[in-house]
Amino acid sequence: MDDIKKISGSTRVYAIIADPIHHVQTPSAMNQLFAARGDDRVMVPFHVNESELGAVVAGLRGIKNLDGFIVTVPHKTAILELCDSVSDSAKLVGAVNVVRRDEDGSLHGDILDGAGFLAGLRQRGIEPAGMSVYLAGAGGAAKAIAFSLAAAGVSKLTIFNRTASKAVELIQRLSAVFPATEILLGSDDPAGHDLVVNSTSLGLRVDDILPLDVTLLTPSQIVAEIIMQPAITPLLAAATQMGCRIHDGMPMLLCQIELMAAAMATNKNEQNHEYI
Ligand code: ATR
Repeated sequence: MDDIKKISGSTRVYAIIADPIHHVQTPSAMNQLFAARGDDRVMVPFHVNESELGAVVAGLRGIKNLDGFIVTVPHKTAILELCDSVSDSAKLVGAVNVVRRDEDGSLHGDILDGAGFLAGLRQRGIEPAGMSVYLAGAGGAAKAIAFSLAAAGVSKLTIFNRTASKAVELIQRLSAVFPATEILLGSDDPAGHDLVVNSTSLGLRVDDILPLDVTLLTPSQIVAEIIMQPAITPLLAAATQMGCRIHDGMPMLLCQIELMAAAMATNKNEQNHEYI
């Protein structure tokens, strides 16, 4: 908290936009990175609901000391249309989770969730190439993760979502880019897959239902989460009981932090490009 005392009129500001917001871990991780680098930058949380997103983003264009913002649940798809330009990856995925604000107020979006998720898996020694993967979800994070898993060479990808039409649309878009990969619409049954991934927002709220039928998990499966708070979600707790190896949501964030900082950098030398 000592660094807060150093905030001045010349500090560059960053935000994270979400609803709910209580769970976000990005400000703490990003502010640690800024402090370690000696950067005069700070990230703060903005609690914004879906109906206010457009108005808030329009206002952010006029904040001259704001260099960028992270976008998370449930805004990753809606923000795409609110950006002036997006990376090829964001266009392909159909979602944005990091936005750079240029000096003239224009907004450039990118998506790093897929790259972050894959890097997090690999950091823990899990290589998805050749694996059959079950993915729960078809929202912004799910789309990014699905494209990155397909690009990484999974042998089969089964997608299940509450709103089946969103899963069907995602499968169609994935199949057009990865025609050799078996990509199927699934049910809540994750059986028969090496890697089971929750990329829904279920688990953030205490009264959430489970994203899939945990009674059908088997000990040979790895169960991975994108939820970071709580660290052990009800899904991960149930998976542990079923004898599965678990992979929590934190590595996905930690592997994204430097990429996010670079994607919001106004200095062209710091920016990075295209992660899928
Ligand atoms: P993010 O941008 O973080 O990925 P999102 O785009 O709102 O957030 O996606 C949330 C995901 O969690 C979606 O797959 C959503 O399912 P729907 O497409 O049917 O909305 C899923 N999800 C959220 N709440 C849910 C609930 N109560 N039951 C089942 N799925 C839920």
